[in-house]
Amino acid sequence: MHKPVLLKEVIEILNPQSGEFFIDGTLGSGGHAVEIIKKISPNGIFLGVDWDKDVIENFKSNLKPKSYNLKAIRLVHGNYADLPEILSAYGRSPEGRKKYKLPKADGLLIDLGFSSEQLEKSGRGFSFLRDEPLDMRYDTKVESLTAAEAVNSFNEKDLADIFWKYGEERFSRRIAKKIVEERKKKRILITFDLVEVIKRAVPKSYEKGRIHPATRVFQALRIYVNDELGNLEKLLKNLEKIIKPKGRVAIISFHSLEDRLVKNYFREMAKPARIATQSVAGGKGMAEILTKKPITATLEEIRSNPRSRSAKMRAIKLL
Ligand SMILES: C[S@@+](CC[C@H](N)C(=O)[O-])C[C@H]1O[C@@H](n2cnc3c(N)ncnc32)[C@H](O)[C@@H]1O
Repeated sequence: MHKPVLLKEVIEILNPQSGEFFIDGTLGSGGHAVEIIKKISPNGIFLGVDWDKDVIENFKSNLKPKSYNLKAIRLVHGNYADLPEILSAYGRSPEGRKKYKLPKADGLLIDLGFSSEQLEKSGRGFSFLRDEPLDMRYDTKVESLTAAEAVNSFNEKDLADIFWKYGEERFSRRIAKKIVEERKKKRILITFDLVEVIKRAVPKSYEKGRIHPATRVFQALRIYVNDELGNLEKLLKNLEKIIKPKGRVAIISFHSLEDRLVKNYFREMAKPARIATQSVAGGKGMAEILTKKPITATLEEIRSNPRSRSAKMRAIKLL
């Protein structure tokens, strides 16, 4: 079972109150969601979004949302980057006649990446320790590129760039070269095939054994095929359309590129209008930063949930 990271800290900073409207944009196993739902009950509204259809189905069947004493729980299979559209389209009848629109929210949580369930059970190749088809998409219902398609069709330079940019993999070029050589003999369609190729490309002493040689390449492919940074950027640009004044936003990231993006956007949003720049959205004095430094897990949490080791939470309050 996926253990929610920084649970106490998330609830403290988002401070959900009875009757408020809260969104969990990355529902996962619902660990954070359940605590939020308890706090906004009985008159609150909860919107849970996840890009993985199985996640939404599991939440519906395991957690029996109806058993919560809450005015409304809405569960949507979708991309958090499309939250403005989800809010306004929600409740439209199939003929497109508008029934109602969800208001802007009092709070939003985004807990990036994948859940332990997806790693262990999705069968989509998120883990290099499982022999599975190399897919890695959160949303398999769309006609988008799989990891296998990228690995078997991209040229050597593009593959190396992906491994370097999204995985900070030192041996990106060697690995890309080996992939291109090996795929001529046999297409690389399953995780273990890719792991074998990576192992043959990197030195035996890879990272002095501290991490598995496939860790960074798998991370890079996952981030690339799901356009994880693009989704995050789209969400950040649209926060004003999703959150009402005095609304709180918390984002938990596990990767330095994501954390940097969040940090820079939040800073721009908090900057007084006078010194606004054209570079990113905000600079409008439209938010207050609630976390001077990112909040990280305590040693105790890291001991009981190693996944929390790289978690960084940043939060703002809209003005
Ligand atoms: C770390 S898990 C969330 C765990 C959750 N907070 C909990 O306590 O169980 C991240 C979830 O975000 C989902 N996800 C990833 N990218 C997404 C996106 N762009 N839109 C919506 N959901 C996304 C994944 O499918 C996964 O279920």
